[in-house]
Amino acid sequence: TKTTISVIKADVGSVSGHGVAHPALLDICEDTLENARETGLLNDYYITRCGDDIDMIMTHRNGEENEEVHETAFTAFMKATEKARELKLYGAGQDLLSDTFSGNIKGMGPGVAEMEFKERPSDPVIVYCCDKTEPGAFNLPLYKIFADPFNTAGLVIDPSLHDGFKFEVFDVMEHRKVIMECPEESYDLLALLGSTGRYVIKRIFKKNGEIAAAVSTERLNLMAGQYVGKDDPVAVVRAQSGFPAAGEVIEPFAFPHLVSGWMRGSHNGPLMPTSQEEANPIRFDGPPRIIGLGFQVADSELIGPVDLFDDPAFDPTRKEAANIATYMRRHGPFEPHRLPSEEMEYTSLPGVLTKLEERFKKMD
Ligand code: F6R
Ligand code: MG
Ligand code: MG
Repeated sequence: TKTTISVIKADVGSVSGHGVAHPALLDICEDTLENARETGLLNDYYITRCGDDIDMIMTHRNGEENEEVHETAFTAFMKATEKARELKLYGAGQDLLSDTFSGNIKGMGPGVAEMEFKERPSDPVIVYCCDKTEPGAFNLPLYKIFADPFNTAGLVIDPSLHDGFKFEVFDVMEHRKVIMECPEESYDLLALLGSTGRYVIKRIFKKNGEIAAAVSTERLNLMAGQYVGKDDPVAVVRAQSGFPAAGEVIEPFAFPHLVSGWMRGSHNGPLMPTSQEEANPIRFDGPPRIIGLGFQVADSELIGPVDLFDDPAFDPTRKEAANIATYMRRHGPFEPHRLPSEEMEYTSLPGVLTKLEERFKKMD
């Protein structure tokens, strides 16, 4: 028998502005998932939040893209939305593109990262949840975890990792995907992954096909055809014996790399790793946050979590991120703090150009 871990997330309303999901919403999600656990649909679950996003981590035996599991998550978010409306929370129901469930939660707004696997004798799994950024934010750290020997010592010294990994990359603009092998094609892979708004890692496998990592890649703004919030992503990564060690999976986040998102989904800023408690994007609606939770999966139950960035060893990263935030902010409305116009979630540029159309004069 196999275990499935499904992480499904949505922003259905927050305090004040796009800041923090209200605890009452998490309680409502808890009720719905607890019912599903009592009926046996779920084996276990853990609910958390990063900024204004609620993240539901669920284990069960029903495989990926299971209709009932997805419907349960959707129902939880619908009920939480009612409460959000009652409290007049900001952006109530913002990530739900429909009010009726239609078979699969994909395309309906919430983000999904899930994987099914046969449990090893001991199976450490790490879940990451972000706010104020997009799925491509995981490209750099996942590349480092699974392909960079300067991050992951095991790629060089552990015979069970020495083979490398396969990366499934989505082209979110053209709705197509490609699988690439590392280390063989690492330079070609990096040529894609550097374009974080277009090419995003969806899944990573061992060379024998075993699943190693999965990321939510929904781009809400592309689905809805207009701005409805950033696509604050989640990822699930397996660790140890045959996979990178937990510490190798965590290490890349000691570098607060620049990601797109932040204020109005239209700025580059440092990804700051914090504890669950400190996952409150406040300064200029940010800077972008990531939390990490370490579990052991045991007979389809979640043992843990350990709040991975609740570690003084990450204090210098947070300080560096705060300094980078100050440095980036000093650019005000200029690139590369402000995103290039094609990538902005908000823009007044077409309107400004229309207004200036007749005043623009051809130059010889
Ligand atoms: C970014 C984000 C916020 C909002 C900003 C403006 O992902 O959620 O930065 O974009 O607070 O929000 P509105 O347009 O709702 O006033
Ligand atoms: Mg929001
Ligand atoms: Mg959010």
